[in-house]
Amino acid sequence: MSTFNVELKRVVDDSYDIEVGFELSDKLVSDIQGGLVGSIKKFAVVTDSIVKDLYAEPISKKLKDCGYTVNVFSFQEGEKSKTRETKEFVEDAMLAKSYRRDCCIIAVGGGVVTDLAGFVAGTYGRGVPFINYATTLLAAADASVGGKTAVDTPLATNLIGIFNQPKKVYIDIAAWKTLPPRQLHSGMAETIKHACLADRELFDYLNDNMEKIYNVESAECEHIAERNCQIKYDVVMKDERESGLREVLNLGHTVGRAIETVSDYKLLHGEAVSIGLVAEVKLSKKLGYMTEDEMNAVIALLAKAQLPTTIPDYIDREALVKKLYTDKKVKNGQLRFVLQKGIGNVVQFGENIFATPISEDLAREIIFDC
Ligand code: GLY
Repeated sequence: MSTFNVELKRVVDDSYDIEVGFELSDKLVSDIQGGLVGSIKKFAVVTDSIVKDLYAEPISKKLKDCGYTVNVFSFQEGEKSKTRETKEFVEDAMLAKSYRRDCCIIAVGGGVVTDLAGFVAGTYGRGVPFINYATTLLAAADASVGGKTAVDTPLATNLIGIFNQPKKVYIDIAAWKTLPPRQLHSGMAETIKHACLADRELFDYLNDNMEKIYNVESAECEHIAERNCQIKYDVVMKDERESGLREVLNLGHTVGRAIETVSDYKLLHGEAVSIGLVAEVKLSKKLGYMTEDEMNAVIALLAKAQLPTTIPDYIDREALVKKLYTDKKVKNGQLRFVLQKGIGNVVQFGENIFATPISEDLAREIIFDC
């Protein structure tokens, strides 16, 4: 017998820029011409049925006009498309168009598109570069930044995926004007989550400027886009692979993700997270980490954002309790929650420990109180 040691130590520089602004497609094209992804000439624009005509086709045309080979690959919009089947559909369509390793994927759309396209990019030909062009507040606030890519399964959301960082992220605020109000509100839930976990000033800012943000006024939208990026960056740069600190970005998601699945995606991601945040602040208050006033302030801000704050009647609360066990934070069969310390901070439970075990009985009590 012999052992051969394969020494493969890696030093990786996955740094990338996030550009926030209005109508960024010309900038995207000029960055590509300037070598953003080296000398690649072939691009797969991955998008959904709503964003296709609004943004993906115009971007594709601009790139073609500059001499690049481009095809648009589109799937039905909505969280229900974020599946292994859709990933396979995009991959097969790219193979049929002779895409090989010398290509780059451009994800144009919201969180479903950036999550799925980033995952395709990570496995296509064992990995090709990708760029995110985020057109929704939800993608701007969370999905397009940080390198988590995944698809959902019938059991739960985001269980199959990889960490894969984009070459650049464009956050086009002008696109928020095209969003149905429900989608804009859904993205606001992730913004409120960031405020709750890291930034009391942002929390007050959202309280004072909600109407301006929902009217997509420039200064206010740029401010929240930048704060979202900064908060996420501060966490992800310290713990990209979620070995501890990154779990704080799960605030409200333990119950939120479970509700999203149990509702069969009738609730948008942010709507489910909003209810998850209500459950989380009730738990934080019960365990003495928040005052009643702070808890009520969070619930009031979610309501001001026109987000749901109670579990809809059609959801079976017992099924919801069972679904909590599909959460990624579950360890040794125990439910674990991230909790808030007042507003703008989270509770740290030990060195690099940001989620705490919660008994099923207590989780049930909170869920039946929401
Ligand atoms: N959406 C949570 C995270 O990026 O970690």
